[in-house]
Amino acid sequence: MAIKNPVCASLSFVNMFAAHFNETGSSESLHMGEVDIPIITENDVLIQVYASAVNRADILQRQGKYPPPPGKSSILGLEAAAIVHKIGSSVTKWKVGDKVMALCNGGAYAQYVAVNADHVMPIPPNLNYGSAAAIPEAWLTAFQLLHTLGEVKSGETVLIHAAGSGVGTAAIQLAKLAKAVIIATAGTEQKLANSKMYGAEHIICYKKKDFAEEVMSLTNGKGVDLVLDCVGGSYWEKNIKCLAKDGRWILYGLLGGPHVNGNLLGQLLAKRIKLTATTLRSRSDEYKSELVKDFSNKILDHFKNGDFKPVLDSTFSINELPAAHERMEANQNMGKIVLIVKEKDCDEEGKCGLSD
Ligand SMILES: NC(=O)c1ccc[n+]([C@@H]2O[C@H](COP(=O)([O-])OP(=O)(O)OC[C@H]3O[C@@H](n4cnc5c(N)ncnc54)[C@H](OP(=O)(O)O)[C@@H]3O)[C@@H](O)[C@H]2O)c1
Repeated sequence: MAIKNPVCASLSFVNMFAAHFNETGSSESLHMGEVDIPIITENDVLIQVYASAVNRADILQRQGKYPPPPGKSSILGLEAAAIVHKIGSSVTKWKVGDKVMALCNGGAYAQYVAVNADHVMPIPPNLNYGSAAAIPEAWLTAFQLLHTLGEVKSGETVLIHAAGSGVGTAAIQLAKLAKAVIIATAGTEQKLANSKMYGAEHIICYKKKDFAEEVMSLTNGKGVDLVLDCVGGSYWEKNIKCLAKDGRWILYGLLGGPHVNGNLLGQLLAKRIKLTATTLRSRSDEYKSELVKDFSNKILDHFKNGDFKPVLDSTFSINELPAAHERMEANQNMGKIVLIVKEKDCDEEGKCGLSD
């Protein structure tokens, strides 16, 4: 379904189109509406968005289950590939016209978004806007899970759940570069085959097999050193079963619910497991700046030389936002769903090609 008020309609100079939703929280309630162009502070840049991408957090926010942090934009959208349009008075590292990708505190499903200048990275020269929009949220999250929090080491075994997700496809590539042994779980054979292609040694279809038993057999009874877990409730017992002594369990999502019923603490204690829970969106600007800096220094060149590829599932016009959200809600995507916001030569219905 296409939505009303396509982005290409003409606007006054101070206004822009941005995605809105009403209180029903359904995907059909998504629509484009006119709002003021954001005002930047001295440390921000205003970027003109060419592409954004869908994240689970957007769907939860739309459903009223994940409000934006206090003081942040209520417009959906956590990442953007864009051109710098305006710079704050204290910003020295960017200039108008730079091609950038950014981790946003919301607001990226729009023609313009204000972003802290330290949350912005250059687009690797071999990538177009659509591919670049697939990087910030998924890759910074995966990098943080594996390295900043997970402290993965060469030779360690890492269990990556939801391996076909945006975060999972990034985590597999990062873990491979770190020389970890990767065990990936997913719900479809296609997602698993893809995981193997990106670097997983072992793949497990969680719908057909007990992943804890499989992992114990693959690791000769030792278990894994690190689990990247966005499932939570429905996986807790199996995660503990297949973690090694002194293993690390990074919890970063609750797709399988928030509740546990059983001897969680006793089993954590018995194996001396370190459980770390994390969300990126609620982190401070300073934390995000450090993460972006570390990622830029260590990882960006790997996109340039082809070691890493942002995995794109599909591309939608922002005018087709409901369909893009429905695809993710139905767990159909393998990798990122990209939204094209600035489109070349729009036709009368607002349908346009991908800018590069
Ligand atoms: N904490 C943070 O900082 C942070 C940042 C970004 C994302 N996240 C979280 O990370 C997760 C992945 O995000 P994403 O945008 O990359 O997701 P995504 O591309 O939408 O992929 C999620 C996949 O998880 C699998 N899944 C869904 N429900 C499941 C369940 N109950 N049990 C097992 N697998 C299930 C589905 O694949 P199958 O076909 O394999 O079932 C689904 O396609 C989400 O939970 C998101 O909220 C957290």
